[in-house]
Amino acid sequence: MINTKTLTYFPEPVPSITFDDIEDDMKTSSLASSNQSTSSLFDPLDAAKTMENIFEEFLEIDGRRFMNDSTLKCCMPSDSKEAERLYGLHCVYRMLWGNNFSSPLEEELSLGAKVLDVGCGSGSWVLNMASSYPLSTFVGIDIAPLFYGDCPVNTAFFQCNVFDGLPFPDNTFDFVRQGFLIVCIDWETWKDKVVKELIRVTKPGGYIEIMDVDYPFFQPGNIAQKFNNCVIHFSDAGINTNSSENISKVFSGHRNVTIVKQEEKILYYDSRIGTISLKYEMKGFESMKIFMMPLLGITDDEFSQLLVDLAKELRICKSTRHFYRLIVKKKSRF
Ligand SMILES: C[S@@+](CC[C@H](N)C(=O)[O-])C[C@H]1O[C@@H](n2cnc3c(N)ncnc32)[C@H](O)[C@@H]1O
Repeated sequence: MINTKTLTYFPEPVPSITFDDIEDDMKTSSLASSNQSTSSLFDPLDAAKTMENIFEEFLEIDGRRFMNDSTLKCCMPSDSKEAERLYGLHCVYRMLWGNNFSSPLEEELSLGAKVLDVGCGSGSWVLNMASSYPLSTFVGIDIAPLFYGDCPVNTAFFQCNVFDGLPFPDNTFDFVRQGFLIVCIDWETWKDKVVKELIRVTKPGGYIEIMDVDYPFFQPGNIAQKFNNCVIHFSDAGINTNSSENISKVFSGHRNVTIVKQEEKILYYDSRIGTISLKYEMKGFESMKIFMMPLLGITDDEFSQLLVDLAKELRICKSTRHFYRLIVKKKSRF
Protein backbone atom coordinates (compact mmCIF):
# COMPACT_ATOMS: atom_id res chain seq x y z
CA MET A 1 0.00 0.00 0.00
CA ILE A 2 1.20 3.53 -0.67
CA ASN A 3 1.77 5.35 2.58
CA THR A 4 1.02 8.85 1.36
CA LYS A 5 1.24 10.37 4.81
CA THR A 6 4.97 9.76 5.08
CA LEU A 7 5.82 11.16 1.65
CA THR A 8 7.12 14.66 1.58
CA TYR A 9 6.72 16.59 -1.64
CA PHE A 10 8.20 19.73 -3.08
CA PRO A 11 10.38 21.60 -3.72
CA GLU A 12 12.54 19.49 -6.07
CA PRO A 13 12.63 16.63 -6.69
CA VAL A 14 8.88 15.93 -6.61
CA PRO A 15 8.51 12.28 -5.59
CA SER A 16 6.08 10.73 -8.00
CA ILE A 17 3.19 8.40 -7.52
CA THR A 18 2.97 6.64 -10.89
CA PHE A 19 -0.03 4.89 -12.32
CA ASP A 20 1.71 1.55 -11.67
CA ASP A 21 1.81 2.46 -7.96
CA ILE A 22 -1.85 3.44 -8.02
CA GLU A 23 -2.89 0.24 -9.78
CA ASP A 24 -0.75 -1.89 -7.41
CA ASP A 25 -2.36 -0.11 -4.49
CA MET A 26 -5.80 -0.94 -5.83
CA LYS A 27 -4.87 -4.59 -6.46
CA THR A 28 -3.37 -5.15 -3.00
CA SER A 29 -6.49 -3.94 -1.26
CA SER A 30 -8.17 -6.92 0.39
CA LEU A 31 -11.63 -5.71 -0.59
CA ALA A 32 -10.57 -5.24 -4.20
CA SER A 33 -9.38 -8.82 -4.48
CA SER A 34 -12.50 -10.21 -2.86
CA ASN A 35 -15.06 -8.03 -4.60
CA GLN A 36 -15.72 -4.88 -6.59
CA SER A 37 -14.49 -2.30 -4.15
CA THR A 38 -11.37 -1.15 -2.37
CA SER A 39 -11.20 0.65 0.96
CA SER A 40 -9.84 4.17 0.78
CA LEU A 41 -6.63 5.06 2.53
CA PHE A 42 -7.94 6.86 5.57
CA ASP A 43 -11.04 6.69 7.68
CA PRO A 44 -11.37 10.05 9.46
CA LEU A 45 -13.21 8.46 12.35
CA ASP A 46 -10.40 5.95 12.89
CA ALA A 47 -7.84 8.68 12.38
CA ALA A 48 -9.50 10.81 15.04
CA LYS A 49 -9.32 7.97 17.57
CA THR A 50 -5.52 7.89 17.75
CA MET A 51 -3.88 10.11 20.32
CA GLU A 52 -1.30 11.31 17.80
CA ASN A 53 -4.01 12.62 15.51
CA ILE A 54 -6.05 14.21 18.24
CA PHE A 55 -3.08 16.18 19.45
CA GLU A 56 -1.22 16.82 16.22
CA GLU A 57 -3.30 16.58 13.10
CA PHE A 58 -6.71 17.62 14.35
CA LEU A 59 -8.22 20.07 16.76
CA GLU A 60 -11.67 19.70 18.29
CA ILE A 61 -13.67 22.91 18.59
CA ASP A 62 -17.29 22.94 19.71
CA GLY A 63 -17.78 19.25 18.90
CA ARG A 64 -16.36 19.58 15.37
CA ARG A 65 -12.98 18.35 14.14
CA PHE A 66 -10.68 20.81 12.33
CA MET A 67 -7.28 20.33 10.70
CA ASN A 68 -4.66 21.58 13.13
CA ASP A 69 -2.55 23.51 10.65
CA SER A 70 -2.17 27.25 11.08
CA THR A 71 -1.08 27.68 7.44
CA LEU A 72 -4.51 26.55 6.23
CA LYS A 73 -6.94 29.25 5.16
CA CYS A 74 -9.84 26.80 5.18
CA CYS A 75 -12.01 27.32 8.25
CA MET A 76 -14.40 24.45 7.51
CA PRO A 77 -14.32 21.36 9.74
CA SER A 78 -12.82 18.10 8.58
CA ASP A 79 -15.15 15.40 9.85
CA SER A 80 -17.93 13.06 8.75
CA LYS A 81 -20.61 15.78 9.10
CA GLU A 82 -18.65 17.97 6.67
CA ALA A 83 -18.22 14.99 4.33
CA GLU A 84 -22.01 14.57 4.28
CA ARG A 85 -22.54 18.28 3.65
CA LEU A 86 -20.10 18.23 0.73
CA TYR A 87 -21.95 15.26 -0.73
CA GLY A 88 -25.22 17.23 -0.55
CA LEU A 89 -23.62 20.24 -2.24
CA HIS A 90 -22.12 18.05 -4.95
CA CYS A 91 -25.68 16.90 -5.83
CA VAL A 92 -26.86 20.55 -5.84
CA TYR A 93 -24.09 21.62 -8.25
CA ARG A 94 -24.69 18.66 -10.54
CA MET A 95 -28.35 19.74 -10.70
CA LEU A 96 -27.39 23.36 -11.28
CA TRP A 97 -25.04 22.56 -14.20
CA GLY A 98 -26.95 19.54 -15.45
CA ASN A 99 -23.69 17.56 -15.49
CA ASN A 100 -20.45 16.87 -13.65
CA PHE A 101 -18.08 18.62 -16.08
CA SER A 102 -18.02 20.88 -19.13
CA SER A 103 -14.78 19.75 -20.83
CA PRO A 104 -15.29 17.90 -24.15
CA LEU A 105 -14.10 14.55 -22.79
CA GLU A 106 -17.18 12.31 -22.96
CA GLU A 107 -15.63 9.89 -25.44
CA GLU A 108 -12.21 9.68 -23.73
CA LEU A 109 -13.90 9.05 -20.37
CA SER A 110 -16.09 6.31 -21.85
CA LEU A 111 -13.08 4.58 -23.41
CA GLY A 112 -10.80 4.91 -20.35
CA ALA A 113 -9.05 8.08 -19.20
CA LYS A 114 -6.94 9.06 -16.19
CA VAL A 115 -8.53 11.76 -14.06
CA LEU A 116 -7.33 13.78 -11.05
CA ASP A 117 -9.60 15.72 -8.66
CA VAL A 118 -7.55 18.29 -6.72
CA GLY A 119 -9.00 19.18 -3.27
CA CYS A 120 -11.52 16.36 -3.65
CA GLY A 121 -13.06 16.74 -0.17
CA SER A 122 -15.26 13.75 0.59
CA GLY A 123 -14.67 12.40 -2.93
CA SER A 124 -18.31 12.79 -4.08
CA TRP A 125 -17.31 13.93 -7.58
CA VAL A 126 -14.73 11.14 -7.91
CA LEU A 127 -17.19 8.47 -6.79
CA ASN A 128 -19.99 9.79 -8.98
CA MET A 129 -17.72 9.96 -12.04
CA ALA A 130 -16.15 6.56 -11.30
CA SER A 131 -19.52 4.85 -11.48
CA SER A 132 -20.50 6.72 -14.69
CA TYR A 133 -17.19 5.90 -16.40
CA PRO A 134 -16.06 2.46 -15.16
CA LEU A 135 -13.21 2.21 -17.71
CA SER A 136 -11.59 5.40 -16.46
CA THR A 137 -9.46 5.77 -13.33
CA PHE A 138 -10.16 8.58 -10.84
CA VAL A 139 -7.68 9.85 -8.28
CA GLY A 140 -8.66 12.30 -5.53
CA ILE A 141 -6.24 14.29 -3.39
CA ASP A 142 -6.99 16.47 -0.38
CA ILE A 143 -5.14 17.79 2.64
CA ALA A 144 -7.91 16.46 4.90
CA PRO A 145 -8.74 12.77 5.11
CA LEU A 146 -12.45 13.23 4.39
CA PHE A 147 -12.79 10.29 2.03
CA TYR A 148 -13.63 6.97 3.59
CA GLY A 149 -15.78 3.91 3.26
CA ASP A 150 -15.70 1.41 0.42
CA CYS A 151 -14.76 2.85 -2.93
CA PRO A 152 -15.01 1.44 -6.44
CA VAL A 153 -11.88 -0.29 -7.82
CA ASN A 154 -11.28 2.50 -10.34
CA THR A 155 -10.65 5.11 -7.62
CA ALA A 156 -7.76 6.04 -5.31
CA PHE A 157 -7.43 8.76 -2.68
CA PHE A 158 -4.30 10.42 -1.30
CA GLN A 159 -3.83 12.87 1.52
CA CYS A 160 -1.51 15.71 0.53
CA ASN A 161 -1.13 19.48 0.55
CA VAL A 162 -1.29 21.04 -2.93
CA PHE A 163 1.20 23.67 -1.79
CA ASP A 164 3.79 20.89 -1.58
CA GLY A 165 3.33 20.14 -5.29
CA LEU A 166 1.29 17.37 -6.90
CA PRO A 167 2.89 13.97 -6.25
CA PHE A 168 2.56 12.68 -9.82
CA PRO A 169 4.91 12.59 -12.84
CA ASP A 170 4.59 15.11 -15.69
CA ASN A 171 1.85 14.47 -18.27
CA THR A 172 -0.02 11.83 -16.20
CA PHE A 173 -3.69 12.80 -16.48
CA ASP A 174 -6.12 13.30 -19.38
CA PHE A 175 -8.33 15.42 -17.16
CA VAL A 176 -7.40 17.47 -14.07
CA ARG A 177 -10.32 18.94 -12.19
CA GLN A 178 -10.42 21.29 -9.21
CA GLY A 179 -13.67 22.19 -7.43
CA PHE A 180 -14.14 24.90 -4.78
CA LEU A 181 -10.52 24.95 -3.69
CA ILE A 182 -9.93 28.63 -4.53
CA VAL A 183 -12.52 29.69 -1.94
CA CYS A 184 -10.39 28.21 0.81
CA ILE A 185 -6.73 28.66 -0.06
CA ASP A 186 -4.16 31.40 -0.45
CA TRP A 187 -4.71 32.92 -3.91
CA GLU A 188 -1.14 34.13 -4.49
CA THR A 189 0.34 30.69 -3.75
CA TRP A 190 -2.32 28.93 -5.80
CA LYS A 191 -1.80 31.12 -8.83
CA ASP A 192 2.02 31.09 -8.63
CA LYS A 193 2.65 27.47 -7.66
CA VAL A 194 -0.40 25.24 -7.91
CA VAL A 195 -1.47 26.29 -11.41
CA LYS A 196 1.98 25.26 -12.74
CA GLU A 197 1.48 21.88 -11.09
CA LEU A 198 -2.03 21.43 -12.54
CA ILE A 199 -0.57 22.07 -16.00
CA ARG A 200 2.51 19.90 -15.41
CA VAL A 201 0.56 16.74 -14.50
CA THR A 202 -1.91 17.17 -17.40
CA LYS A 203 -1.07 15.29 -20.61
CA PRO A 204 -0.55 17.37 -23.78
CA GLY A 205 -4.01 17.63 -25.35
CA GLY A 206 -5.65 17.03 -21.94
CA TYR A 207 -8.04 19.35 -20.11
CA ILE A 208 -8.00 21.28 -16.83
CA GLU A 209 -11.34 22.36 -15.40
CA ILE A 210 -11.72 24.76 -12.48
CA MET A 211 -15.13 25.07 -10.86
CA ASP A 212 -15.63 27.68 -8.17
CA VAL A 213 -17.87 30.42 -6.80
CA ASP A 214 -17.71 34.11 -6.02
CA TYR A 215 -18.25 34.52 -2.30
CA PRO A 216 -20.65 37.48 -2.05
CA PHE A 217 -24.41 37.15 -2.37
CA PHE A 218 -25.74 39.22 -5.27
CA GLN A 219 -28.77 41.44 -4.72
CA PRO A 220 -28.33 41.10 -0.94
CA GLY A 221 -30.82 42.21 1.68
CA ASN A 222 -29.63 43.62 5.02
CA ILE A 223 -28.67 40.28 6.56
CA ALA A 224 -26.95 38.95 3.42
CA GLN A 225 -25.01 42.23 3.33
CA LYS A 226 -23.71 41.50 6.85
CA PHE A 227 -22.38 38.17 5.57
CA ASN A 228 -20.93 39.92 2.51
CA ASN A 229 -19.10 42.28 4.86
CA CYS A 230 -17.40 39.26 6.47
CA VAL A 231 -15.92 38.49 3.03
CA ILE A 232 -13.43 41.32 3.60
CA HIS A 233 -11.91 39.21 6.36
CA PHE A 234 -11.47 36.28 3.96
CA SER A 235 -9.79 38.62 1.46
CA ASP A 236 -7.53 39.93 4.22
CA ALA A 237 -6.55 36.32 4.91
CA GLY A 238 -5.36 35.97 1.29
CA ILE A 239 -8.42 34.31 -0.28
CA ASN A 240 -9.65 35.53 -3.66
CA THR A 241 -13.36 35.98 -3.00
CA ASN A 242 -14.23 37.02 -6.58
CA SER A 243 -12.02 34.69 -8.60
CA SER A 244 -14.34 34.54 -11.65
CA GLU A 245 -12.96 37.97 -12.63
CA ASN A 246 -9.32 36.99 -12.97
CA ILE A 247 -9.14 33.20 -13.15
CA SER A 248 -8.69 33.05 -16.94
CA LYS A 249 -5.86 35.64 -16.81
CA VAL A 250 -3.90 33.29 -14.54
CA PHE A 251 -3.96 30.53 -17.16
CA SER A 252 -3.48 32.81 -20.15
CA GLY A 253 -0.09 33.70 -18.65
CA HIS A 254 1.10 30.14 -19.45
CA ARG A 255 2.21 29.55 -23.04
CA ASN A 256 1.50 25.80 -22.99
CA VAL A 257 -2.27 26.11 -22.48
CA THR A 258 -5.25 27.56 -24.34
CA ILE A 259 -8.37 28.91 -22.63
CA VAL A 260 -11.30 27.02 -24.15
CA LYS A 261 -14.17 28.81 -22.38
CA GLN A 262 -15.51 30.14 -19.11
CA GLU A 263 -19.12 29.33 -18.22
CA GLU A 264 -21.27 30.90 -15.53
CA LYS A 265 -24.31 29.59 -13.65
CA ILE A 266 -26.47 31.70 -11.39
CA LEU A 267 -28.07 30.07 -8.38
CA TYR A 268 -31.41 31.73 -7.54
CA TYR A 269 -32.33 31.23 -3.90
CA ASP A 270 -36.04 31.44 -4.64
CA SER A 271 -35.78 28.40 -6.96
CA ARG A 272 -36.09 24.70 -6.05
CA ILE A 273 -32.31 24.13 -6.41
CA GLY A 274 -31.70 27.32 -4.43
CA THR A 275 -33.86 26.03 -1.57
CA ILE A 276 -31.95 22.72 -1.44
CA SER A 277 -28.62 24.55 -1.67
CA LEU A 278 -29.61 26.82 1.21
CA LYS A 279 -30.01 23.80 3.49
CA TYR A 280 -26.36 22.83 2.97
CA GLU A 281 -25.03 26.40 2.89
CA MET A 282 -26.67 27.11 6.25
CA LYS A 283 -24.98 23.97 7.65
CA GLY A 284 -21.72 25.43 6.31
CA PHE A 285 -22.27 28.75 8.09
CA GLU A 286 -23.26 26.83 11.23
CA SER A 287 -19.92 24.95 11.16
CA MET A 288 -18.06 28.25 10.71
CA LYS A 289 -19.95 29.97 13.51
CA ILE A 290 -16.99 29.92 15.87
CA PHE A 291 -15.13 32.15 13.38
CA MET A 292 -18.14 34.17 12.21
CA MET A 293 -19.72 35.14 15.56
CA PRO A 294 -16.86 37.50 16.52
CA LEU A 295 -16.90 39.03 13.00
CA LEU A 296 -20.63 39.69 13.27
CA GLY A 297 -20.37 40.65 16.96
CA ILE A 298 -23.21 38.35 18.05
CA THR A 299 -23.86 35.46 20.46
CA ASP A 300 -24.49 31.80 19.70
CA ASP A 301 -28.29 32.12 19.94
CA GLU A 302 -28.33 35.30 17.87
CA PHE A 303 -26.24 33.57 15.21
CA SER A 304 -28.71 30.64 14.95
CA GLN A 305 -31.61 33.09 14.58
CA LEU A 306 -29.67 35.13 12.00
CA LEU A 307 -29.24 32.01 9.83
CA VAL A 308 -33.00 31.35 9.90
CA ASP A 309 -33.65 34.98 8.93
CA LEU A 310 -30.92 34.91 6.26
CA ALA A 311 -32.51 31.87 4.57
CA LYS A 312 -35.88 33.67 4.44
CA GLU A 313 -34.38 36.95 3.27
CA LEU A 314 -32.35 35.38 0.43
CA ARG A 315 -35.59 34.01 -1.05
CA ILE A 316 -37.60 37.20 -0.53
CA CYS A 317 -34.90 39.46 -2.02
CA LYS A 318 -34.36 37.02 -4.92
CA SER A 319 -30.67 37.04 -4.04
CA THR A 320 -28.29 34.94 -6.14
CA ARG A 321 -24.83 33.43 -6.04
CA HIS A 322 -22.55 33.09 -9.07
CA PHE A 323 -20.69 29.91 -9.98
CA TYR A 324 -18.25 29.38 -12.84
CA ARG A 325 -16.30 26.73 -14.71
CA LEU A 326 -13.09 27.54 -16.56
CA ILE A 327 -12.02 25.02 -19.19
CA VAL A 328 -8.38 25.02 -20.26
CA LYS A 329 -6.61 22.75 -22.76
CA LYS A 330 -2.94 21.85 -22.57
CA LYS A 331 -1.43 22.34 -26.02
CA SER A 332 -0.24 19.19 -27.82
CA ARG A 333 2.84 21.09 -29.04
CA PHE A 334 4.37 24.12 -27.39
C1 LIG B 1 -14.86 23.57 -0.19
S1 LIG B 1 -14.08 22.02 -0.10
C2 LIG B 1 -14.45 21.36 -1.70
C3 LIG B 1 -14.30 19.87 -1.74
C4 LIG B 1 -14.69 19.22 -3.07
N1 LIG B 1 -13.86 19.65 -4.16
C5 LIG B 1 -16.14 19.45 -3.36
O1 LIG B 1 -16.45 20.17 -4.30
O2 LIG B 1 -16.97 18.88 -2.62
C6 LIG B 1 -12.38 22.46 -0.28
C7 LIG B 1 -11.43 21.29 -0.04
O3 LIG B 1 -10.10 21.76 -0.25
C8 LIG B 1 -9.27 21.09 0.67
N2 LIG B 1 -8.02 21.85 0.84
C9 LIG B 1 -7.87 23.08 1.42
N3 LIG B 1 -6.58 23.45 1.39
C10 LIG B 1 -5.91 22.44 0.76
C11 LIG B 1 -4.55 22.23 0.44
N4 LIG B 1 -3.62 23.14 0.74
N5 LIG B 1 -4.19 21.08 -0.20
C12 LIG B 1 -5.13 20.15 -0.52
N6 LIG B 1 -6.45 20.28 -0.23
C13 LIG B 1 -6.83 21.42 0.40
C14 LIG B 1 -10.11 21.06 1.94
O4 LIG B 1 -9.65 20.06 2.84
C15 LIG B 1 -11.50 20.75 1.37
O5 LIG B 1 -11.78 19.39 1.33
